[in-house]
Amino acid sequence: MKVSVVGASGYIGGEAVRLLMTHPKVQPNQITSERFAGKFVQAVHPNLRGSSLKFSSINDLEETDVLFLALPHGVSMEKIKDLEKKAGKIIDLSGDFRLRDPEDYKKWYKHPHPNPEYLKRFVYGNAELHRKEIRESNLVAGTGCLATATIMGLYPLFKNNLVKDQVIVEAKVGSSASGNKPNLSTHHSERSNVIRSFKPTGHRHTAEIIQELSFNSKPQVHFSGTAVELVRGILATSHVFLKKGFTKKDIWRIYRQEYNDEPFVRIVKKSRGVYRYPEPKILAGTNFVEVGFELDPNSNRLVVMSAIDNLMKGGAGQAVQSMNIMCGFEETTGLEFLGLHPV
Ligand SMILES: NC(=O)c1ccc[n+]([C@@H]2O[C@H](COP(=O)([O-])OP(=O)(O)OC[C@H]3O[C@@H](n4cnc5c(N)ncnc54)[C@H](OP(=O)(O)O)[C@@H]3O)[C@@H](O)[C@H]2O)c1
Repeated sequence: MKVSVVGASGYIGGEAVRLLMTHPKVQPNQITSERFAGKFVQAVHPNLRGSSLKFSSINDLEETDVLFLALPHGVSMEKIKDLEKKAGKIIDLSGDFRLRDPEDYKKWYKHPHPNPEYLKRFVYGNAELHRKEIRESNLVAGTGCLATATIMGLYPLFKNNLVKDQVIVEAKVGSSASGNKPNLSTHHSERSNVIRSFKPTGHRHTAEIIQELSFNSKPQVHFSGTAVELVRGILATSHVFLKKGFTKKDIWRIYRQEYNDEPFVRIVKKSRGVYRYPEPKILAGTNFVEVGFELDPNSNRLVVMSAIDNLMKGGAGQAVQSMNIMCGFEETTGLEFLGLHPV
């Protein structure tokens, strides 16, 4: 099968190319970059040295079986009609097609969607929540990295109606989440050593979290994003409040029920040890999400911790997982890397 990646000079595109190069069922065919058209992939991604792949312009894109779009916000939604003619299956990694409701889109992205009919056609590409729909669809929206970490931690609780409708989320994220185009805030002297609140309110991923956790009602999600000294990784700490009558045992049962058969979800909750809770450090380069929790002995507050690599389960890894499902491959194909320790 031929697969192409548009926006392959970026961090997410590069990570997708890395995964596709060693995937046994597909062949990366074309990779695009306007800045680096004509250059070998290693000009931007030194980890891919030895590959004969060269960047071409998006204008020279040929027909392909599967197309990954790793473009900045706003580009895919303008080009989607033309791009759809090029590929049997599309996985878009931007925020352009993640929300189902055009009104939600307008509210969170501050402008109307130019092609709102596509919002209904794209499936939210979180395999654990939408496996069946992904299998039946040719259009999948890659999920937001901060949203993925948060949703994976909270989904079992909201689906099974264990918690009240208010949730407060504090998510810490590494620098690769803002892509590889430099600006003042990503300049080493400004970015290094920080713990910086960059979006205490109003983060766009909040919309995805609300959408995906709406079962019996729409939860109130209070999300804050903080940049920390990491290249890859997200740790989301969510505070929820248990409804009357539920115990720690119920929480365990629900997490096991939802996640025991999931190949990329690890429930991490030990009573002792350095790594007794989820931690992004040991997930770098892997497609795993780790989820853990602790119940406050003095209240009904449940603290849920969830960790991912933003470029993998939060981006390219999850997209390859979706491709595997869409194409009928074993879901874990090309994603078996377990991670490094120590790193
Ligand atoms: N970074 C993450 O952790 C993460 C996680 C999940 C989802 N995402 C989403 O994935 C997308 C890509 O993110 P990223 O971090 O990889 O960004 P990035 O590093 O800035 O890469 C953007 C890519 O898009 C290309 N591009 C930019 N404008 C273009 C245009 N008008 N036409 C064609 N190509 C264009 C760039 O290529 P040239 O400039 O070389 O042409 C580059 O390859 C974003 O929508 C982001 O929100 C990112």
